[in-house]
Amino acid sequence: MHLPHTRRRPAGRGTGSPRRWRLATLLGLALLLPFLTGHSAQAEPVTVPNGTQFTDTAGNPLHAHGGGILEVDGYYYWFGENRHDDNNGFRYVSAYRSTDLKNWEFRNHVLTQQSDPELARANIERPKVIYNESTGQFVMWMHKENGQDYSEARAAVAVSDTVDGDYSWQGSFRPLDHMSRDITAFVDTDGTGYMVSAARENYDLHIYRLTDDYTDVAELVANPWPGGHREAPALFQRDGVYFMLTSGATGWDPNQQRYATATSLDGEWSEMRDVGDATGFDSQTTFVLPIQGTEATSYLYMGDRWGNASGGLVNDSEYVWLPVEFPDSRTMALSWTPHLTIDTTAGTVAPAP
Ligand code: DGJ
Repeated sequence: MHLPHTRRRPAGRGTGSPRRWRLATLLGLALLLPFLTGHSAQAEPVTVPNGTQFTDTAGNPLHAHGGGILEVDGYYYWFGENRHDDNNGFRYVSAYRSTDLKNWEFRNHVLTQQSDPELARANIERPKVIYNESTGQFVMWMHKENGQDYSEARAAVAVSDTVDGDYSWQGSFRPLDHMSRDITAFVDTDGTGYMVSAARENYDLHIYRLTDDYTDVAELVANPWPGGHREAPALFQRDGVYFMLTSGATGWDPNQQRYATATSLDGEWSEMRDVGDATGFDSQTTFVLPIQGTEATSYLYMGDRWGNASGGLVNDSEYVWLPVEFPDSRTMALSWTPHLTIDTTAGTVAPAP
């Protein structure tokens, strides 16, 4: 990034010597740097335990299951499912924020049963929020069911003018008449929005281009693994290569996770290849977070160890986070670590010693 040129005052006029002037300019630029660089998160390194439940900074259980993270003005905002503790039905999409990815401040239940009559009894799964630069709106995409079974297979949209405000329900629908279950949303480097969801009883995984305001589907751009029976998509981009990480479809039970790569979202995708162990270290993927810092950009795998797989409910689930390793530009790897060290300032994630 180019910093603006500063004009040097002629010596002997105005306030002070050229040297003092240069020092003042440098100090000013140093103070401005966080704003000029887009408010990246700044925090001390932290150690995060793996395969556990988390609490927020008020000491309450942190419920953001099947969730995703969006970085805004120096904070990571985490949105996810916060279900009823008795019947597992939709209660809230909750939002928390953090600078270090360990200390999470509860912000708001951004979508509730009262947000719309359609949500009074429902199932809302895998909410993901993206920001639209041109409209200035935050757009949430999610999977919506009727709260009784999984027959609706709809995508749904809600929007807000602020990242953690009350989101306004825009409705649910089948994108271009396709069934739509497990879902994610993604903004490409050129600002084009995409939604990815499981179609045809989960046998296909569709990549849709969104309309300019991100609130609707414009076009089905790819169905790269027909019959693949994949769910839980997490899409990210690294050095011009797109990675699509997925699980198999075995309900709440974890299974072998697989991924594919491409150099364009609507282009040629590779076959799916295994990653991690046979059960995703007992978890199902929900999101991969790029952590961009002063030293590096690292990628954090976020998965859910569903409580439902061991006789519990979604709110009994544990979070499994892992550093993503890249043996080469088109290959990713995941290994278990009991604790992670995360440094959001530097942009590093590593197994804790
Ligand atoms: C697997 C999905 O990934 C979850 O989000 C949830 O829909 C369960 N299936 C329900 O069985």
